[in-house]
Amino acid sequence: TANDASTGQQPTATYDSAFLKACRREPVPHTPVWFMRQAGRSLPEYRKVREGIPMLESCMRPELVTEITLQPVRRHNVDAAIYFSDIVVPLKAIGLDLDIKPGIGPVVEQPIRTRADLARLRDLTPEDVPYVTEAIGLLTRELGSTPLIGFAGAPFTLASYLVEGGPSRTYENAKAMMYGDPELWADLLDRLADITAAFLKVQIEAGASAVQLFDSWVGALAPADYVQSVMPASAKVFEAVAGYGVPRIHFGVGTGELLKLMGEAGADVVGVDWRIPLDEAVRRVGPGKALQGNLDPTVLFTDKNTVEAKAQEVLDAAAGLEGHVFNLGHGVMPNTDPDALTRLVEYVHTHSAR
Ligand code: CP3
Repeated sequence: TANDASTGQQPTATYDSAFLKACRREPVPHTPVWFMRQAGRSLPEYRKVREGIPMLESCMRPELVTEITLQPVRRHNVDAAIYFSDIVVPLKAIGLDLDIKPGIGPVVEQPIRTRADLARLRDLTPEDVPYVTEAIGLLTRELGSTPLIGFAGAPFTLASYLVEGGPSRTYENAKAMMYGDPELWADLLDRLADITAAFLKVQIEAGASAVQLFDSWVGALAPADYVQSVMPASAKVFEAVAGYGVPRIHFGVGTGELLKLMGEAGADVVGVDWRIPLDEAVRRVGPGKALQGNLDPTVLFTDKNTVEAKAQEVLDAAAGLEGHVFNLGHGVMPNTDPDALTRLVEYVHTHSAR
């Protein structure tokens, strides 16, 4: 089931899935749907298998990763699985002292602040992440024709954690480095681009059918700063995996002013949050790209009729679009009722059937 490194060859049934067809902007039998953070705390079966196991450790156990990745596929009938891991896993794998603290997120013991600190960011090789290769091998066998999405954090979003030392609302240290020491910043992002590209290659060669680059926090930047200080590194990542022919998805939050640029960085599919309707997003992104999104995840805290009305608005805004992958505008929130997600998948499938 592994992809051929030279051709990106997929098993035929996977290649012909609604999800991969939509990514390629081919006609689909129904709009495919999956959810960012579909695996995780919204599912009781997830909370059960994770009991007593720290987050990062759970990412390194292939059988557990396989089980957690499959849970939302079994339960919700989504059109794609997303590999269970975290954006900081490759950084942990090259030896950085970081952890994921419950309810907080990634915390880095010694932040990257100086040129000397860059030496701690060595290249990543497949031998650093044997559990990824093993888990994806198990998963592609279990998934059959359901595609598996691999993912990584984009250089800016990874840098935001590394330079700040943890989650931030303002990114003051990271942005200060970007503005104040552009050479150090460029070298840091270039290092992270190489690590990210290597991590995505491991996933694709093990059998991932698509990849998503999460630049979750890049909406903090003005377009000109994105072009000058971030886009070269993100483009390097996309270029490094272009030869496999698997769809490349690019997502960030609050990126209304960056959508066109994020497409131009090398994405085949541009992820859109809930702040801009998809018919406006397609005008901003321009031709030649599929779009993914964009129901506000908090809509799932309302009643069934409201969820369906808001989901229909998303489908209507995407009606003229070639290539739509239905998703939320950001990840599933932990308190979401999983049954609301199952009903939403059913609704999208039924009301987009052609
Ligand atoms: O189902 C999936 O989407 C796959 C799993 C996945 C996780 N993290 C598992 C996880 C994915 C795709 C990620 C990506 C990720 N991690 C991003 C980009 C996506 C986004 O939301 O914008 C970011 C910014 C991170 C960093 C991170 N890791 C945060 C902010 C948190 C949440 C902290 C918290 O506890 O609220 C984590 C931890 C994390 N990663 C959890 C999960 C399921 C929760 C920890 C747990 O269940 O114990």
